[in-house]
Amino acid sequence: MSLADFVIFLLVVVGLCWFIHLCRTFTSNGRHKPPPGPIGLPLIGSLHMLGKHPHRTLYKMSQKYGPIMSLRLGLIPTIVVSSPAAAELVLKTHDAVFANRPKVQFSDSKTMAFSEFGGYWRSVRKFCNMELLSPTKIDSMAGLRKEELGFVVEWLKNAAGSGQVVNVSEKVARLIEDMTCRMLLGKSRDERFNLTEVLNEMTKATGAFNVADFIPFLAPLDLQGLVRKAQVTGKALDKILETIIDEHEEEAREGYKKLDKDFVDVLLSLKNNPPSIHEQLAKNIDRSNIKAIILDIIFGSVETSITAIEWIMTELMRHKRLVHSFDWELPFGMSPDELDMDETFGLSLPRTKHLLAIPKIRQC
Ligand code: HEM
Repeated sequence: MSLADFVIFLLVVVGLCWFIHLCRTFTSNGRHKPPPGPIGLPLIGSLHMLGKHPHRTLYKMSQKYGPIMSLRLGLIPTIVVSSPAAAELVLKTHDAVFANRPKVQFSDSKTMAFSEFGGYWRSVRKFCNMELLSPTKIDSMAGLRKEELGFVVEWLKNAAGSGQVVNVSEKVARLIEDMTCRMLLGKSRDERFNLTEVLNEMTKATGAFNVADFIPFLAPLDLQGLVRKAQVTGKALDKILETIIDEHEEEAREGYKKLDKDFVDVLLSLKNNPPSIHEQLAKNIDRSNIKAIILDIIFGSVETSITAIEWIMTELMRHKRLVHSFDWELPFGMSPDELDMDETFGLSLPRTKHLLAIPKIRQC
């Protein structure tokens, strides 16, 4: 078959599919009728309408089609909810029905993020909550976070003193990586590998808009080269995880010299010495699950925290007027020393006095 024949064949198939789709849309009885939404084009559906800022486009579309709308992204039927009441229906009332994430090309079913809603997901979640994210664990590691933050503040003070230009994004990224490594792996960032950079590369490959997620039969062609990129970065990441696990296993064999076991130690102990509370997870765990769970936490915490801090600081700089045109007063004649600025706010303990500042227009 020549290329021209192939293109004609493809156009006929696509046209036919669209015709069938249109017929189905207009003839479906009420029971299976999808919520209102744009009809879309053959093959790509409404992908071309999303534009540079899909969240804004979807908001505009929802103004036209309502708080529960349907559209096709490529070949994938998609429902968009955009009001508090509709969100409550999906995330609360029927949360078990919607709990699974869609299967995309790079989803790893051993991670908590992409495993199916069920026994395995529940047991991994319970493990992470108890062994890393419980208020007691979080509080027990407050000292090390404060210490890491102290190093950065001191460094920034010195840099400011000598008029040095500082790349704050870089500094924040290193701080988050240091904190995460100490909390998970029991030691600061390992200079042998640049974890943030590898994570960044992985996020670029796996988080990019991937046409194969919307038109799955194109997946084998790897049109955007994402699979190749993910494989290269995946190997680098795997090497880091293998090193981390090997070193923890060696430490366990030699007898721990440290007082507290870190998250990876506890995770590894599931294989040989599982506590009864994590019996269920211990039955289903091997080296690849262990790597997937470590990745869950590293991926979940590092990029998100860096992005959130960068975004907040950028917004503060973009709205300099707020800082320069107002004096900020504390309520009830409070002095700044009385403010409880401890990080535990929002995590486990309530603040003794709320962080509240009153803007007063500056008189020049
Ligand atoms: C500013 C920081 C963070 C933001 C904005 C953020 C945001 C999110 C969002 C939107 C989800 C999806 C929730 C859902 O689909 O129901 C999520 C899930 C998740 N996050 Fe975070 N997160 C942050 C920090 C963290 C940290 C510090 C950790 C780990 C210590 C973490 C670990 C995870 C994990 C493991 C999941 C998957 C949970 C599951 O599927 O059951 N995140 N995060």
